[in-house]
Amino acid sequence: MEFSINSGAPEKRRSGCVVVGIHEGRKLTAAALAIDGSSRHYLGDVLRRGDHEGKLGTTLLLHNVPGIPADRVLLVGLGREREFGEAAYRTALAAAMRALKATGAAEATLCLTDLPLKRRDISWKVEHAVLAIREGAYRFDKMKSKASDGKRALRKVVLHVAKRGDVAAGESAIRRAEAIAEGIALAKDLGNLPGNVCTPTYLAEQAQELAKRHGLKAQILEQKDLEKLGMGCFLAVAQGSRQPPKLIVLEYQGGARNAPPIALVGKGITFDTGGISIKPAPEMDEMKFDMCGGASVLGTMKAIALMKLPLNVVGVVPATENMPGGNAIKPGDIVTTMSGQTVEILNTDAEGRLILCDALTYVEKYKPAAVVDIATLTGAMVIALGHVATGCFANSDPLAAELLNAGEEAWDRAWHMPLWDDYQDALKSNFADFPNIGSRAGGSITAACFLSRFTKAYPWAHLDIAGTGWKSGAEKGATGRPVGLLTHFLLKRAA
Ligand code: BES
Ligand code: MN
Ligand code: ZN
Repeated sequence: MEFSINSGAPEKRRSGCVVVGIHEGRKLTAAALAIDGSSRHYLGDVLRRGDHEGKLGTTLLLHNVPGIPADRVLLVGLGREREFGEAAYRTALAAAMRALKATGAAEATLCLTDLPLKRRDISWKVEHAVLAIREGAYRFDKMKSKASDGKRALRKVVLHVAKRGDVAAGESAIRRAEAIAEGIALAKDLGNLPGNVCTPTYLAEQAQELAKRHGLKAQILEQKDLEKLGMGCFLAVAQGSRQPPKLIVLEYQGGARNAPPIALVGKGITFDTGGISIKPAPEMDEMKFDMCGGASVLGTMKAIALMKLPLNVVGVVPATENMPGGNAIKPGDIVTTMSGQTVEILNTDAEGRLILCDALTYVEKYKPAAVVDIATLTGAMVIALGHVATGCFANSDPLAAELLNAGEEAWDRAWHMPLWDDYQDALKSNFADFPNIGSRAGGSITAACFLSRFTKAYPWAHLDIAGTGWKSGAEKGATGRPVGLLTHFLLKRAA
């Protein structure tokens, strides 16, 4: 997909489709007015007949509008003008993209980026237009024997801005958004691949490929390396699988040589059966998405490498399957973590924290400025926040605030969850230092408490993306979240 910015008159554009907004109450936006004027009030007539009411998210496609050189004009409902904000803007973009995809247009001019939006500048509007279009255009048909439909795909999008002075800012926003979109697409692709393809070995190969293409340093630690490091907890999860575990380490050096890096640690369970504490059969296929945290780390590394951000970032992904079997860990087993602390594994399905804890100890060697882990960690997170917000836990309130702000900027939002000491009491074991589960109550918080016992050496935040990493149902698929949030967090840090 090719994006560009233009401030020329929309009513004079030769285009496959000009997209213009209509507010409720037959209120034409500037671009719609211009087209109405050049077409002898064709749009006004259509609206008066009641064919389009400007309701948010509705569209109407018009062909051969008189006096207009464009092949098509797409009307997009924006809802009430007074209520037009960020959410409505995103809804309108998604609706426009859905309607555009149903046409044969290979090129379109989008007159939505020129709409006034309180609190948001051209840069934000352009970034979100690009992201919404890339989101709508995303397909995953790698595993189908033939691509799903024969429609000519949208190849070029011109984003209209109101002032010539907005062109430069718009163009730099396009570059930033394309980098984020690339990162999101990578995270989605990896997430959507099935467990028999996207194994720990495959993830490691993809990381190496990414490193080669974008000038990162990649290091893959194998089973024997993990043994030497004493990662007893990570290895305990891996021992039930035929697939060898991998600890993926990517280093991006965009900052000063000695500047402490930010570390991103992503859960990379390429399939979570639950192990001996096996999961019920319905929807178990969705546990191929249990590496979405790891995928978001790779996606973010790609985005920041494309943007050439001036800072240092380390990405670490412990990758393994969680399988039952003759050699699998059993409830009650006690293992020693890299930190030296011992853990009683009361439930083999609470495996995410078991692989993350050793990776969190491993990153201490970088003396990181901050560490953020990303994990599809708990079903309880979905109960708490649903599929809208990612749960954010932290041992540093300023770090949590940075991440929440980044999520707001990226429209990839997170919500601050408590990590008070009162919750730590849930983790008590008669036999080891502590167990890997607490009671059912506050399940995502006790999971975060478990991790907090391995993150004393640095400012740390934990993003539980169990509800936001993928969608179920008819639109089943990885979302690429929270690549947007993480990239904006790093953008801010680099500034
Ligand atoms: N990967 C799952 C968490 C999960 C479950 C995410 C469902 C999204 C949807 C994780 O490994 C897990 O199984 N967690 C258990 C923990 C429990 C045993 C304490 C859970 O949430 O049920
Ligand atoms: Mn599990
Ligand atoms: Zn899991």
